[in-house]
Amino acid sequence: MRAVDIIIRKKQGFPLTKEEIHFLIDGYVKGTIPDYQMSAFLMAVCFVPLTEEEQYYMTMEMLQSGEQLDLSNINGICVDKHSTGGVGDKTTLVVGPIVASFGLKLAKMSGRGLGHTGGTLDKLESIPNFQINITPQEFFKQVNEISIAVVGQSFNMVPADKKLYALRDVTGTVESIGLIASSIISKKLASGAKTILLDVKVGDGAFMKDKKSAIELANAMVKLGKKNNRQMIAVLTNMEEPLGRMVGNSLEVIEAIETLKGNGEEKFTELCYELSSELLIETKICKSKEEAYQKIKEKIDNKEALEKLRQMINYQHGNSNVIDDYSLFPQVKYKIDVPSLKTGYVRMLKAEEIGHCAMLLGAGRKNKEDKIDYAVGIVLNKKVGDFVHQGDSLCTIYSQTRDIQEIINKIQTIYQIEDNNKNNMPIILEIIR
Ligand code: URA
Repeated sequence: MRAVDIIIRKKQGFPLTKEEIHFLIDGYVKGTIPDYQMSAFLMAVCFVPLTEEEQYYMTMEMLQSGEQLDLSNINGICVDKHSTGGVGDKTTLVVGPIVASFGLKLAKMSGRGLGHTGGTLDKLESIPNFQINITPQEFFKQVNEISIAVVGQSFNMVPADKKLYALRDVTGTVESIGLIASSIISKKLASGAKTILLDVKVGDGAFMKDKKSAIELANAMVKLGKKNNRQMIAVLTNMEEPLGRMVGNSLEVIEAIETLKGNGEEKFTELCYELSSELLIETKICKSKEEAYQKIKEKIDNKEALEKLRQMINYQHGNSNVIDDYSLFPQVKYKIDVPSLKTGYVRMLKAEEIGHCAMLLGAGRKNKEDKIDYAVGIVLNKKVGDFVHQGDSLCTIYSQTRDIQEIINKIQTIYQIEDNNKNNMPIILEIIR
């Protein structure tokens, strides 16, 4: 077999066999297929999408390229949750403790952020002393004892994806549904959980800019999971504007804590209830959405969900006093309000651009090795649908410097303010099983 022949066959629209996909992926991981041939293959796939069978072969090859987590030592139902990535997305920090307070086991390997989206690990590391690298023994013990652990990758899982994703990132080949689906699902399968909830973001701040392609991606992922005997749920959610009111690492942890205290922003709270209820129904802990919502509210009101977060922070060596005293988080020197230039309704607040501003403040990375500042970020005082008077504060910038005029100017253009109110887009767009 020769890589060049496989690339040509794919380019001409012929479906590839299991053996051909094995030859490519295995060879790429071992280094016998060079970056330039893999890049050509990936680009061909962007123009001639992977068929359902090819996606399956690709997923299985990637899965088998590394270790798989064996969760059989964990007593109870193991669930996993994955978001395709968004701005202000701190959902795991709320949904995780909620479902853990019902006894579901969330043994979660998470990732760091790059570019305009934040990663859960960076957010957790804004908690003083919080450890994301714990030993496998500690990890399993923690999940057995308190039902939740969110850690970094301490196993060599799906090395094929690490190498391929880095190449896709620099060759303009990320945005292919088959490649995204096989990348995400190979990692979820390797993580071992039987029930997998996917939060597929749709809109400006997401990979999938429109609902049609998000549905296609969700269907592809659900099928791949089901073929591997996993229970799959994909929830399509709106990422036109940032999620919640806070963007930035410690700010997002604070917003997650406030939501667990019952004081969350309405749409963000709705999303957390919806995702949690899907897991509770799928695992038969609750029979209906009404029952799930009512029981989740009880767990919020009686602070059991909040206590799960406290336990997780304690087990992972963090200072859990942050839950009661936000001054223990890293602090900024300046909090600067951005005044509105107009009176009217906020019609648009593009998530990706707000994420970009947060990154410029130091909350995110341009390059993998960049250091981030946990304290900086943006608190959105106004969101889509809100009425604002000229001069009112649109948002508050948390910064270590006063020299942010460019960012202020940019934010004043990101907030699009018009005379008429726009129908607010719902946060939940579709659920696919
Ligand atoms: N997230 C992933 O893990 N993989 C992709 O290809 C895209 C988003």
